[in-house]
Amino acid sequence: MRHALLFYCRAGFENDCRQEWEARSGQTGGWESEPGFALFKPGKGGEADPNPPEPKELIFARQTLHVLADVQLGEKDRLTPILDALKSSKISAFNGVWLEHPDSDAGKPLSGFTRRFTDIVEKALNERNLIDPKARFRLHLFFPSMTRALVCSVDPEVAASPWLMGIPRVRMPSEAPSRSTLKLSEAFMTLVPDADQLLKSGMTGVDLGAAPGGWTFQLVARGLKVFAVDNGPMKGDMAIHPHVKHMREDGFKYKPQHPVDWLVCDMVEQPARIAQLIAKWLASGTARHAVFNLKLPMKKRWAEIERCFELIDQTMNAAHVRYALTAKHLYHDREEVTCYLTRLKAPRR
Ligand SMILES: C[S@@+](CC[C@H](N)C(=O)[O-])C[C@H]1O[C@@H](n2cnc3c(N)ncnc32)[C@H](O)[C@@H]1O
Repeated sequence: MRHALLFYCRAGFENDCRQEWEARSGQTGGWESEPGFALFKPGKGGEADPNPPEPKELIFARQTLHVLADVQLGEKDRLTPILDALKSSKISAFNGVWLEHPDSDAGKPLSGFTRRFTDIVEKALNERNLIDPKARFRLHLFFPSMTRALVCSVDPEVAASPWLMGIPRVRMPSEAPSRSTLKLSEAFMTLVPDADQLLKSGMTGVDLGAAPGGWTFQLVARGLKVFAVDNGPMKGDMAIHPHVKHMREDGFKYKPQHPVDWLVCDMVEQPARIAQLIAKWLASGTARHAVFNLKLPMKKRWAEIERCFELIDQTMNAAHVRYALTAKHLYHDREEVTCYLTRLKAPRR
C-alpha cells in the first residue's frame, strides 16, 4: 500500500525537509506544505519507503509518520470521521494516541483543542478496543486546522521521535549564562547515544567560541574540565569556575597541549570553515567527539550541508579514520543545524 508521509519541521524549513527527503530517499512525488509541516505523496510507480528513516537520521524532520487517511471534519462531530477512517485502516489496535498540530503561528491556537479532544478520542478508542499497550503502532492525529485531520501511524521502537510534536522538553538552568545552553543540552539528548557514559567526570573538553559560557556550562555540569576559547568575556560562574580555563585566542588557531575527549564549537563562521576545522581535530585525534553548529543563513541550506559533510568525509578518509556523523535541526536551533561527529574504533583485523 502506498502511504503518504508526514514530516513535522520548524516553520519556514518545509523546503529543506523536502530537498533532504528527495535526496536521501531517491523518491519524488507531490508535496503539500504549510508552515510547520510537509506532506509527501509518492508519485506513480514510486513506492514510499515502507520503513521511513528514523527522525534521528533526517536533519530537518522533527517527526516522520505514515499517513493512513486524510479526513475532513464536521464542525459539530469531529470524532466520527476519524473513527470511520480507522475502521478502514488495516491496523487493529494502537499502543496509544497523540494529538498534534503544526508548530506555527496558525497552529498554536489549536493546542487547547488538541488537549481537550485527547480525552474524548482516548475514551472512544478504548470503548472500541482500539487501544492495546502491546500493539506495535502508535496513532497520531495531526490537525492542520479544526476541519482536517491527518490520521497517521508510527512504530515508536524504530521510527518515532519520543516527544509530542517531535519537540523535546529541555529545562533552562537558572545558573546558565545564556539560552544557547539549551542547544547543547538538546544536542546531547538527541544526537549523542549514551551521553551519560560519554560525558563523565574527569574528562576534558574544548569549547570554541565559548562566550558567554552556555555550552561550557553544559560540559562543566557533567564534570568535565573545559578550555573555553573566545576573545569575548565569560559570564557568571563560568568566568570563575575552577574547572574552566578561559583562553583569549582565535578558535581557528588554538591547539590544546594534550588531546581532549570533547570538542564543542558554536562560532559564527562560514559552515565549510567550521566543518574543515572540526574534521581536522578529529582526524588528528586531538578530540574524540565533537558537537558543532553549522550556521546556515543562505537559501540553499541542504546543498551547504551536503558540501560540509563531503569536506568532513574527505578529511576523515584521508586520515583513515572511521567516523559517525549525525545532525539535527534542533528545536532550539534557528538558521543553523547541530552536528555530532565521533571517531569509531578501527575494526579488528
Ligand atoms: C553564538 S556565540 C557562542 C555562544 C556560546 N556557545 C554560549 O552558549 O554562550 C559565538 C561566539 O563565537 C565567538 N567567536 C567567533 N569567531 C571566533 C574565533 N575565530 N575565535 C574564537 N571565538 C570566536 C564570538 O566571540 C562569540 O562569543
